[in-house]
Amino acid sequence: MEDENYYREQIRKYVSEIYKIRKNKGNFVPGETVIPFAGRIYDEKEIASLVDSSLDFWLTAGEYANKFEKAFAKFWGVKHCSLVNSGSSANLLAITALTSPKLGDKRLKKGDEVITVAAGFPTTINPIIQNGLIPVFVDVELGTYNIDTKNLEKAVSPKTRAIMLAHTLGNPFNLDAIMELVHKYDLYLIEDCCDAVGAEFRGKKVGTFGHLATVSFYPAHHMTMGEGGAVLTNNLELEKIVRSFRDWGRDCYCEPGIDDTCKMRFKRQMGQLPYGYDHKYTYSHIGYNLKVLDLQPAIGLEQLKKLPEFIRTRNNNFNLLQTALKKYNEYLIIPEATENSSPSWFGFPLTVKEDAGFTRSEIVAFLEQNKIMTRMLFGGNLLRQPAYENIEKRVIGELKNTDIIMNNTFFIGVYPGIDKEKREYIIGAFNKFFEKTKDKRN
Ligand SMILES: Cc1ncc(COP(=O)(O)O)c(C=O)c1O
Repeated sequence: MEDENYYREQIRKYVSEIYKIRKNKGNFVPGETVIPFAGRIYDEKEIASLVDSSLDFWLTAGEYANKFEKAFAKFWGVKHCSLVNSGSSANLLAITALTSPKLGDKRLKKGDEVITVAAGFPTTINPIIQNGLIPVFVDVELGTYNIDTKNLEKAVSPKTRAIMLAHTLGNPFNLDAIMELVHKYDLYLIEDCCDAVGAEFRGKKVGTFGHLATVSFYPAHHMTMGEGGAVLTNNLELEKIVRSFRDWGRDCYCEPGIDDTCKMRFKRQMGQLPYGYDHKYTYSHIGYNLKVLDLQPAIGLEQLKKLPEFIRTRNNNFNLLQTALKKYNEYLIIPEATENSSPSWFGFPLTVKEDAGFTRSEIVAFLEQNKIMTRMLFGGNLLRQPAYENIEKRVIGELKNTDIIMNNTFFIGVYPGIDKEKREYIIGAFNKFFEKTKDKRN
C-alpha cells in the first residue's frame, strides 16, 4: 500500500471518472450552443499524462520534453526539434538564430531585408523588426491567402537576405516559386507552420523546405499543450544556435539538471574569460529563457497520437464546407488549395465580394447571432495596425488584396470538434443568410 505506483494508479482512475462526467455534460443544441472556430480536443489520456508529470514534479523541461522532441521530429521527418513556450517564441528564435555570430559572414545583420507579407499574424513579422531587420511587404492572393509570387523579383534588393512567411490557415504558399528565389539569391527561408501542421507541397511536408520551421501548440492549433511551440530544422549548427538563444544564450548544451555532457566543462577558454571558466555559465549569445515546463509535452505526447486523425477531420470538414458553399461563389470567394499542395486546414476563410449586396459585417453578425464563431484573418493588413505605423519597411506595390482581406475577409472553424450535426447546422445558417438577403443581392 505504501507503493507510489498504487496511488498513481488510483489517481489515474479518478481522472478517468472526472473526464467521463465532463464528457457527458452539454449536448449540442442548435442555435444555443456556440460552435467555436477552434478548441482543444482531448480525453482522459491527456489529463492523466499531465497529472503523472505533475506528480513527478520535475517541472522544467525534462523527460517528457525529450520524448516529445524526438517523437515530433519523427512525425515531421526532420532531424531536430526544440520545444519552446509558444509559437511566437519559436518565430523569435528562428529569426534571431540567423543573426548569430557563429554563422560568420552568413549571419543576418541590422538593416538586412526579409521578404514577408502583411496579411497575417503579428508575431510572424515582429521578430524581423525586433532584430533590427527590415521587413519587405509583398501582396497576397485572394482565395489562397498566400504571397502573390508573380512579382516576387520586384521585392529583391542587394540587401535581401531572407524570406519569412506563414502557410496561411494551413494552406501552403507556392514553394516552387519561393525555393527558386531562395536558390537564385542564396536566401534563408523560415516557414511559419503554426497553422499548418501536416500540410504538404508536392508530397513533401511544409517546414522541410526552408532552413527553419516553427510550430505553435496554443489550444486553437492542430494539436495543443496549452501554451507551447517548436523550432524545427535539419541543420545541426542552427539547432545548437536556437537552443543557445532559448536557454539564456549559454554555450553549454547540457539538459536541465545534467552536468558536463561535453566532458570539457572546466577545460575551455572562450572570449576573455580565464581558462577553465565553468562552461555552464559561458554565454555565446545575448539570449532568452523560452523553455517549456515538462507538464506541456506530457499533454503533447498524447495529442501527438491523435494528430493524424485531427488533420484528417479538419480537411474533411473543409472539403464538405467548400462543396456546400460553392453555390454562393457569385458573392463569396471560396477558399482554394495552392496548386500542387495538400493543405492541413486551420480554418475556412471567406471573402465577401465588393458587389455582393451585403457586407462582411452583416454576414459575420448573422453567423455570430446564430452562435457560429467567426474570426478575422488575424491582423488584416498589419501595416494599418497602430503598432506598425512607424516601422522601417519597404512595401512592394499597393497591397491591394491585403486591404481587401482587412475589409472583407473572415473565417469560420473546421476543427475536429465540428461534427456532421454542427457542420450541417453551419451550412443551414449560410443558406438562411442567403435566403434572408435575396432581395438585397443583385
Ligand atoms: C501563423 C501564426 N504564427 C504564429 C503564431 C503565434 O503562436 P503562439 O500563439 O503560440 O505564440 C500564431 C498564433 O496563432 C499564428 O497563427
